[in-house]
Parts: sequence; C-alpha cells; structure tokens
Amino acid sequence: MISRVKLRKMKENKEKISMITAYDFPSAKLSQEAGVDIILVGDSLGNVVLGYDSTIPVTVDDMIHHGKAVKRGADDTFVVVDMPFMSFHVSKADTMQNAKRIFQQTDAQALKLEGAGEVIETIEYLTHAGIPVVGHLGLTPQTVNVLGGYRIQGKNKKDAEELIENAKKLEEAGAIAIVLECVPESLARLVTEYISIPTIGIGAGKHCDGQVLVYHDILQYGGDWLPKFVKPYGNMNELVKSSISHYVQEVKEVSFPTEDHSFHMDEDELPSLYG
Ligand code: KIV
Ligand code: NA
Repeated sequence: MISRVKLRKMKENKEKISMITAYDFPSAKLSQEAGVDIILVGDSLGNVVLGYDSTIPVTVDDMIHHGKAVKRGADDTFVVVDMPFMSFHVSKADTMQNAKRIFQQTDAQALKLEGAGEVIETIEYLTHAGIPVVGHLGLTPQTVNVLGGYRIQGKNKKDAEELIENAKKLEEAGAIAIVLECVPESLARLVTEYISIPTIGIGAGKHCDGQVLVYHDILQYGGDWLPKFVKPYGNMNELVKSSISHYVQEVKEVSFPTEDHSFHMDEDELPSLYG
C-alpha cells in the first residue's frame, strides 16, 4: 500500500498516480487486483450506484456502508472516503464526530473534503487529530447549486488566482493531496508546479500528478452519458445487457439449466405423490 510519504515521492519523481472510485466489494477487489494506487469511495456513489441526480442526498451512513465494503475488497490499497454534503459544515464537534465515524468504521487511509474557505481550518484540525485529508478544488459537485451547474472552473484571472491560493492554503493546512476537478489544463499545471503535494486531476489535463475517474464511467456501466473528460476503457453496458438477455432467453426456451447445472438423487428415495 502506498503511504503519504510515497505520494510525495511519486510527485517528486514524476511518477503518475492512478486513482479510481469504487463503491462495493467487487469494484474494490478488481481495482486492487488491477493495480491502482488509490481507491476513492466517492460520494459520486449517489449518482452512479444509488441513482440520485446529484451527490447532495448522500449521507454519512451511506459513506460508511460503502466504505466498509470497499475496504473488505481492497484491504491492501490506500483508500480515501469522501465526507458527504454538509457533514463537515456543521459545528466543529459534529464535524469531528462525522469524520471520526467515517474514518474509524471504514478503516480508510484518508478522508476527502470539497472546498476551501472554512474547510481549510477543518482540514487543519482533522489533520491534527490524526485524520489525513485530501482536498478537492475546482468543480465541487456538493456546491453545484451555488456554482450554477456542472461546468469548468477557474477560467478568468480572479478565479484562477483564487484556485492557486486555495491550493496553497490546503497544503499549508496539512492536506496530503488535492483533487482538481474540471479546470483548464494550463491552470492545473500552474497549481501542480506551485504546491508540493500531489494534484490528482479529473477533467484537469495531463500535467496533474495523477488522474482520477469514476469506475462506472471508465467501464460504461449503468449510465447513458459520459462527460467530455472521461475516456471509456470498457463497455459493461453491452456486456451486462447481452449476458442477461442471453440468460433470459435460455430460461424461456429451457436451454438452461442442463445436466451440467443439475443435481441428482437415487430414484428409490423419491417419494411418490400418488400413493
Ligand atoms: O465522488 C467522486 O467520485 C469524486 C471524484 C470525481 C474526484 O469526488
Ligand atoms: Na466526491
């Protein structure tokens, strides 16, 4: 399993960091077996696993439930779990309690928190309490209703400067890495050069220290639409649909099950229904 120290070394050595989301035992197990560096139990589980149209309905209990399943499937991989909507914008005591529950119960290596502003202090005290934190800047889906939609961030000088400053503040607060979502490639490059913790991009171009994508997106599994920044590496929709429809067809025409799938007993042991 990689460590926080190894993450920094990878940045220094320009060795790219691969991160993928996972939400359950099989997705975690397969991701670990495929050799990813980091698994993120993203609150994107709201969209891709639970069928909500945003991450806002996702709860602390949802994150714990899925985080535990992921860790059971990938106990030798560095796992980061998202703190969901509003769970870290409550009182300090409640924020600590939410973070403690997620971190302890999932056995994760770090938590991820979206945003800057007040979140910077939160990152600081969670770090002091012994919980490593990954930051998340640029498009932060939990505040989509304030941002005015899912769109590219940091495109004017003021927003770009703010993003760079916030990245530095997150680093100073103790963040171990920062996810940059939907920012122009050139700006992501500047941020990556400016800070000494790794940047992990999604829709942020090739200069980030690592990349993250959503499991169900790269496998085309369950959804009908892909954002521009996703490259699909497989097509589970086709595979799953054709496999299930084949099964349905064989059940209907009784070509499944066959001898191969059936059990037998001694005919004499079979009771007679007719006396
Ligand atoms: O929830 C998620 O999947 C994420 C990634 C997009 C970084 O936060
Ligand atoms: Na997320």
